[in-house]
Amino acid sequence: MPVSVIESYDRYFASRLYDQRYPRANPSTLAVVLEQLGRQGRRVLDVGCGNGRYAEALLERTPASIVACDISPRAIGDLSSRYAAHVASGRLRPLLGDLSVVASSLGPNEKFDLVIMLFGVLAHIYSRALRGEALAAIRALLRPGGRIVLTVPNAARRFSREQTAARKLIQAGHLEAGDILYERASDDGVVEMYYHLYSLKEFVQELEQWGFRIRQVGAESVLPESGVVRSTLLGKLDGVLTTLLPLRYAYGFLAVAEVANEEDATEYLPPPMPRPPAPGKAE
Ligand SMILES: C[S@@+](CC[C@H](N)C(=O)[O-])C[C@H]1O[C@@H](n2cnc3c(N)ncnc32)[C@H](O)[C@@H]1O
Repeated sequence: MPVSVIESYDRYFASRLYDQRYPRANPSTLAVVLEQLGRQGRRVLDVGCGNGRYAEALLERTPASIVACDISPRAIGDLSSRYAAHVASGRLRPLLGDLSVVASSLGPNEKFDLVIMLFGVLAHIYSRALRGEALAAIRALLRPGGRIVLTVPNAARRFSREQTAARKLIQAGHLEAGDILYERASDDGVVEMYYHLYSLKEFVQELEQWGFRIRQVGAESVLPESGVVRSTLLGKLDGVLTTLLPLRYAYGFLAVAEVANEEDATEYLPPPMPRPPAPGKAE
């Protein structure tokens, strides 16, 4: 991995910059999650939960029980202390680590009705192969018919300068097509990040390749997320724009996908990984 995502996010959360930029859940994404939860039951896995803006909304608005995992110790520390009463009651179970930690912390028959993986978590996982492993792990953690709500950044809307800068690293084989490195200023200095930016086609193909059936695809937002979650007016405007504008204008893509059925889940074998992209052929 070219940068430490754990270290970067630890510093990001510790600086409180993340809370300033993203103080609450994206209202239209949350609406999709709540709708799915209504249909899908009450056990939720929040993968890459951060310090809990979606977990908080679900704890407040639904009777769901939530397992929330993140690789950042700072994020899990903040989440655990903020929602200590829910942790004590057993409704919220914070786990420090990735999906392998979730799998090893649960009983073999403990499955989820709904997995949420929101605001670029998948895109922070370095390499196409490891993102595929993460999707396969989620599939195994869902009950038959269980669903995932997943969002990823749109390459056509995000980080154009960084995409240009990444070309040399992609040509040299240090990054894969669609990958970028970017920097975020924090009180504590510069935080370096890895991100994979998606086209809609790649997003849909990746989900289907790893055994999901897509139920719905839309925009996570059209306006930048930090504006949408900080201003009620922008949040409302964005809710309208996401329904009116073509998906190519999305700031991030949102998909709702499901595991087809039980036989499918046990018999499913991951497909062979796609061949690495030709040098210099950025998406
Ligand atoms: C942009 S934040 C999103 C946090 C939260 N979902 C939200 O919407 O506020 C990305 C989060 O993903 C976490 N993350 C990155 N890779 C991860 C992995 N492999 N497993 C679990 N969490 C991961 C980071 O630590 C960070 O908290």
